[in-house]
Amino acid sequence: MPQATYHFPRGFLWGTATASHQVEGNNTNNQWWKFEQDGHTDGKSGLACDWWGGRWKEDFDRAAEGGQNAHRFSVEWSRIQPTPDTWDENALEHYRNMLRGLRERGMTAMVTLHHFSDPLWLYEMCGWEHDDIVSMFEKFVRKTVEALKEYCTLWCTLNEPNGYALNGYVIGTFPACNKGLRTAIRVEANMLRAHAAAYRAIHEIQPEARVGYALHYRPMAAHSKSPLDILVRNLQYNALNISFPSAINTGVMKSTLGNIRIPEAKGTQDYFGLNYYSVDTVKFDITKPREVFGTRYFPEGSDLSATKYIANIPEGLFDSIKWAMRTHPDTPILITENGVEDAEDKMRPRYIAQHIHQVWRAVNFNFPVKGYFHWSLVDNFEWERGWTQRFGLWGLDVETQKRIKRPSADLYAEICKENGLSSEMVQKYCPEVFDKLFPV
Ligand code: BGC
Repeated sequence: MPQATYHFPRGFLWGTATASHQVEGNNTNNQWWKFEQDGHTDGKSGLACDWWGGRWKEDFDRAAEGGQNAHRFSVEWSRIQPTPDTWDENALEHYRNMLRGLRERGMTAMVTLHHFSDPLWLYEMCGWEHDDIVSMFEKFVRKTVEALKEYCTLWCTLNEPNGYALNGYVIGTFPACNKGLRTAIRVEANMLRAHAAAYRAIHEIQPEARVGYALHYRPMAAHSKSPLDILVRNLQYNALNISFPSAINTGVMKSTLGNIRIPEAKGTQDYFGLNYYSVDTVKFDITKPREVFGTRYFPEGSDLSATKYIANIPEGLFDSIKWAMRTHPDTPILITENGVEDAEDKMRPRYIAQHIHQVWRAVNFNFPVKGYFHWSLVDNFEWERGWTQRFGLWGLDVETQKRIKRPSADLYAEICKENGLSSEMVQKYCPEVFDKLFPV
């Protein structure tokens, strides 16, 4: 049996990612809380992982003891600016404490300024649909970055603006004010403008800052060579994957309904944040007008996750990195999310090993990947899917708040500590893919 280690460069960031509404608990003043009370989600966030109550400390300990040298978390706008005219200094202090907590544990912080949740007051005025969201977001970003800049230089303005706009305004699984494709595109354009304003504001406050956003990139294949399958594949692919990057590259957002000039967005990223989970096949479907007549599915025989939400397709991560590198030459890449829902931890060990192997391949092609953030540290509230999906390296008993270590937590810890993936690790945690990862 071969013995080998896939090593990573010194200084590579190994972390996990979380988001405020998913872990804090009692976020009663945002649109998701309302959406939950109105019965649109599978369960309610409730106390979540009780990070607002202070359990971030024990979870940061778990991360640090597990060899992680970085953590990505988001701040909750509705806590920092509970009404349009008030700021909550205690909330900012809470985040300063978390950042001090990371520093004390020797971990690099990455702060996301917007991860799907909006203050209720903003939601009630259909905030992202209107132009003045740009100055509102900038004001919030300035206040927050001023308060936290002592402890953080790595900023993510928006998490998955493409997912936020499409899930809410087109598909309807996320809360959204006025639905429809036209509105979704307006929202995305406003998110680009808001991102660009935030990018400049952050650099003004902190010249050494590294600022970007995180894109949910989804490779897609057409079901067949039929022109209809190819057409809907291209429409869906472009709608999800291309609008944001096109504007960052050229100042023109390519949308399903035509080009929109957003010149201020050009060049507003210091790194590319890649969230990668899986790959889709797209088939023409006359019954899906809202999804531009396309059904997405995983091909038969795919290695499917516990709730069939994700197909384990590690090569897709390599392809996504390659795409990111070609689309944004000379831009460092961070894998800002990657993970799988798997309460019993049957697939996760191989998912982790196989995906990290693809990151290693990319690094060895000299693709500028600088870090990997696994989604997620502890099971957390999965949006409309509530508690039915478990993405944590650590399990969570929602009733008792007890954390239960999964084998994947140990595997990931070994990878982080070794700064590499070894044949022994694969043999120990996921022997079923040994021959794939270490062929003789
Ligand atoms: C989101 C996370 C979410 C994860 C798994 C990502 O698209 O950014 O908030 O928990 O998917 O569903």
